Amino acid sequence: QKGGYDTFMEKEIHEQPYVLSETLRGRVDNDVRMDELKEININWEKLERVYFLACGTALNAASFAQDLFRQWVPACPSFALAASEFRYGNYYLNSDTLCIFVSQSGETADTLAALQLAKEKQAKTLSIVNVLGSSLARKSDCTLYTCAGPEIAVASTKAYTTQLVLLVCLMIALSEKLGCQPKDVSKLMADLKRIPEITKDMLAQQEIVKDYAQCLKDQKDAYFIGRRLDYFSVVEGALKLKEVSYVHADAYIAGELKHGPIALIDKGTVVIALATQEEVASKTISNIEETIARGANVILITTQYQDTHAFQKVLRIPDVHPALAAIPAAILLQLFAYYGAVLKGCDVDKPRNLAKSVTVE
Ligand code: F6R
Repeated sequence: QKGGYDTFMEKEIHEQPYVLSETLRGRVDNDVRMDELKEININWEKLERVYFLACGTALNAASFAQDLFRQWVPACPSFALAASEFRYGNYYLNSDTLCIFVSQSGETADTLAALQLAKEKQAKTLSIVNVLGSSLARKSDCTLYTCAGPEIAVASTKAYTTQLVLLVCLMIALSEKLGCQPKDVSKLMADLKRIPEITKDMLAQQEIVKDYAQCLKDQKDAYFIGRRLDYFSVVEGALKLKEVSYVHADAYIAGELKHGPIALIDKGTVVIALATQEEVASKTISNIEETIARGANVILITTQYQDTHAFQKVLRIPDVHPALAAIPAAILLQLFAYYGAVLKGCDVDKPRNLAKSVTVE
């Protein structure tokens, strides 16, 4: 059942090249194919706002999508919100609002409650779901399926990266519908097709990640930092680490460190830094250097081009459109959490206090 792997989490991390290619199958050619969008009875020209609603890992994917949508369709306001908060926030909803729900199981109670509210207010509803025929899929105007296959380990890995690629495709399709275009769209399309291959290359770095994860041995805390899209990736990286290894992990916007969190950095503190977004990479690097000056033990994940002479532990992602860097980065962060948990002797497939599908609000 575990296909020769020690745990389901390890197996599911390694399935990503395959499930990503399944999720992308038939979607990307010269443009993105998303025929399902026809099922939404909406006048796209009148679209007033977009909400992305989800919980946990799926919320991290949703926040990433919100950022892309803001970059590519700046005239239409978009908000990613924890589904558990949506019913209490008095958010503006009408029939020209699109609510996008993201969920692996399609059965998360908070996400379903948010869907119900959206429907009561006549908003249009679209779900990104992994489980076929789940409640969220049945009740939404339109469903896009991630093709991650069954995810058994409690910690979400392959569902998350398939959500990311499908959300990128959806954001491209929506931006086109709304008369906009992502920057470097032809590179983006070409790189989307390379994602399964890129993912394989990332998995090939597992021994280096395993070695770097040794730094968690005597640590109770770890800090993750990044800017722009990297921030959502590090929030997910921190979530993964804390849920499987019980190491307290926090994620910060790198520029926010100096406004408080840097007080936590001391000799040997583990800092995982992500600098894949060229426009802000040099600023992130100087924030990281401030942590090194205070004795932090830094693991840097960056692009092929960044000068890293000041760093001892470096992992590189291949040349890829910045909107896709989150996917190779996720593989490295999942491996880091996995090996951290194994090192600490944790039951990675069934972390304490967690359930695979959360059906209470
Ligand atoms: C984290 C994790 C949870 C889920 C969350 C939402 O690894 O698995 O945070 O992402 O409970 O679940 P779904 O996606 O099924 O709605």
